Amino acid sequence: MAVNQALLCEAQATGPSRVPVARPRLPSAEAVFPYLQKIDDAGWYSNFGPLLTEFEARLAGRFPVGTEIVTVTNATQALTLTLMAMDLRAGGYVVMPAWTFVATAHAVIQAGLRPWFADVDPDSWMLRPEAVTDLAANVREQVVAVIPVSAFGARGDMAAWRAFRDATGVPVLVDAAAAFDTLDDAALPAVVSLHATKVLGIGEGGYLATRDAKLAARVRQLTTFGFEGGRESHVAATNAKLSEYAAAVGLAGLDAWPADRFRFLRAAQHLRMSLIGQPDVRFQDGWGTEWATSVCTVGLPDGTAGAVAAILHGQGIDTRQWWGTGCHTTPAFADCARGDLRHTDRLAGSVIGLPFSIDLSAAETTRISTALQQALAGL
Ligand SMILES: Cc1ncc(COP(=O)(O)O)c(C=O)c1O
Repeated sequence: MAVNQALLCEAQATGPSRVPVARPRLPSAEAVFPYLQKIDDAGWYSNFGPLLTEFEARLAGRFPVGTEIVTVTNATQALTLTLMAMDLRAGGYVVMPAWTFVATAHAVIQAGLRPWFADVDPDSWMLRPEAVTDLAANVREQVVAVIPVSAFGARGDMAAWRAFRDATGVPVLVDAAAAFDTLDDAALPAVVSLHATKVLGIGEGGYLATRDAKLAARVRQLTTFGFEGGRESHVAATNAKLSEYAAAVGLAGLDAWPADRFRFLRAAQHLRMSLIGQPDVRFQDGWGTEWATSVCTVGLPDGTAGAVAAILHGQGIDTRQWWGTGCHTTPAFADCARGDLRHTDRLAGSVIGLPFSIDLSAAETTRISTALQQALAGL
C-alpha cells in the first residue's frame, strides 16, 4: 500500500466518520422474508401476482375510495406512460417547473412532447397556475398539459391546480415523486417514486394514483405490451411491470411505515431544533412537523450554497444539490423553450440538501448544525 494511502486509511480510521447526505431506509431481509416465502408458495413471480395485487390495494387504501393505483418500474416510466395514455397532441408543450429533477423533462420528451420550463414560486419552490395562464398567447396555444412538481415531497396546492384544469381544460399530471407521505388525493393524476432514496423505497419502482379509471386502464395496458387481458397487443406499448419480488419489499415497507414515519419526523424535528433561531436557514414549510420525506433541503442566503457546501465537505459533512442548478441548465435540455427563470436561478444558488436519514444520530445532528452555523457566520 502506498504511504499516502496508508496515512489516509489511518486518518479515516481515527477521525470522525463522514456524515453521508443520505442513508436509504429499506426493509430488512428479515422483514421481507415472509413475503418471499409467499412467492415460493404461490409459484407466481411476476405478471400481476397476489403480492402485487395486495401492494396496489394497500397503496389505494391511502386514498379516497375509487382511487386506482398502477405500479410501474419507476416514476420516470410512470410519468412517460401516463403522458402517452393522455393522448396529447404530439410535439405540444408540457409546462413544467425548471426547479425539478431531470426525470420530469426526460419523461416529457420520451412521450413525444416538448418541455416548456417555467419559473416557480420563490417561497414554496413550486409551480403556480399563473405560470401557465400568464404565458404569451402564442405559447399558451401550444400547451397540451402541465406537470406541477412536489418540491422534495412538499404538498402542492392541489386545489389551485384542480381549479386550473377545470377552468382551462388543460390536463394536469402531478409529479409527486418524493411525496409518498403527503399525497392523499388523486383527483389529479399523480406519480410517486419508490426509488431507494425515497421514504418508501423498494429499490426501483413507482406508481400512478388516479381517480380516472380509464386513464389507469390505459397506463396499465402500456406497462404490459398493450395487452387487454388476453395476449394480443392492441396498442404499441412496453413492458414496465413490477415483479412479485418488488411487491414483497413494498409490502414489508408498508408494514413498517407507521413506525418509520414517526422516526423520520422525529429525526427531522431534532435537526430543525438544532438550528432554531438561525434566520439564515429556512426549512420547507411543514417539513418534519406535518410531513415526512427522506431528504432535508434548506434555503440559505442567496448565492451561498456552493461556499457552504465546500466548507461542510471540508468538515466531513456531505451535501447534495438534489436538483443541480435547475433542470433547464442540463445539457440535454439546452434547446428546450423557457420563460424568465429568475426564482429558479436564485434557488440554484441558495438551496442545499443537508445530510438526513431516519437514523440520523444526535452526534451527527450536532455536527451538521454546528458546521452550518460556523460556515454561515464565516461568509
Ligand atoms: C421530481 C422527480 N421526478 C421524478 C423522479 C424519478 O423517479 P424514479 O427514480 O422513480 O424514476 C424523481 C426522482 O428522484 C424526482 O425527484
